[in-house]
Amino acid sequence: MTNVVSPPIAVALRNVERRYGTVRALRGVSADIPTGVWLGVRGRSGSGKTTLLNCIGGIDAPTAGTITCLGEDVVGLREPARTRWRLARVGFVFQAFALLPTLSAFENVELPLRIAGHPDRRRRALACLDRVGLSKWVDHRPAEMSGGQQQRVAIARALANAPRLLLADEPTGELDTATSRDILTLLREVAHEPGVTLIMSSHDPLALSYCDQVVEMRDGQLVG
Ligand SMILES: Nc1ncnc2c1ncn2[C@@H]1O[C@H](COP(=O)(O)OP(=O)(O)OP(=O)(O)O)[C@@H](O)[C@H]1O
Ligand SMILES: [Mg+2]
Repeated sequence: MTNVVSPPIAVALRNVERRYGTVRALRGVSADIPTGVWLGVRGRSGSGKTTLLNCIGGIDAPTAGTITCLGEDVVGLREPARTRWRLARVGFVFQAFALLPTLSAFENVELPLRIAGHPDRRRRALACLDRVGLSKWVDHRPAEMSGGQQQRVAIARALANAPRLLLADEPTGELDTATSRDILTLLREVAHEPGVTLIMSSHDPLALSYCDQVVEMRDGQLVG
């Protein structure tokens, strides 16, 4: 047993704003997201869900406010430190899978470990693919796989660095209902590991039904 003590708050947002020119995608978001929850973020198209996840995970940067994520001041990190932090600590899953088409499943999962200079990346990537049930598909390219299988590869990639924070942006948005259930069951297994926090945006009532808590984004603000 490892004896890692997780902070009680995984993500603290304070007055987070994100403007793109005149568009105010986030308009003062404040929240404390406890460690260990599966939080759903629902809201209409354009309400700011993707922007929020990208700011939490350091893909994007707020134009005002602070974000403390797994004890790190994400907004204060400059590149390339922010990318390094993200590769080491966070896992991202996207609606459209975002796999590299010319790489095999194995290579897609191994790539972030390679970039991060992970010493044991081959074993780790294979273990993650095994975990998502794709041991027999390691040499296949994304185009040779179903949407559900591609999302499994993407989840394996997100798990490769053993993150304590997973960010999933409409992970079932491109999947049929049966496949969505498979992916949500897999995410539930991951989310139930001690100390793992999962923040998932979705429009999908089925996906949101798996969450411990659901909040709503409305015009760049959190309600409820
Ligand atoms: N890179 C960008 N440049 C300019 N505007 C942007 C950019 N990214 C997002 N926006 C704008 O910010 C607002 C919030 O967009 P965001 O993608 O976060 O919404 P969303 O809730 O994820 O929507 P959807 O459900 O369609 O994915 C929208 O008005 C959008 O047009
Ligand atoms: Mg979005």
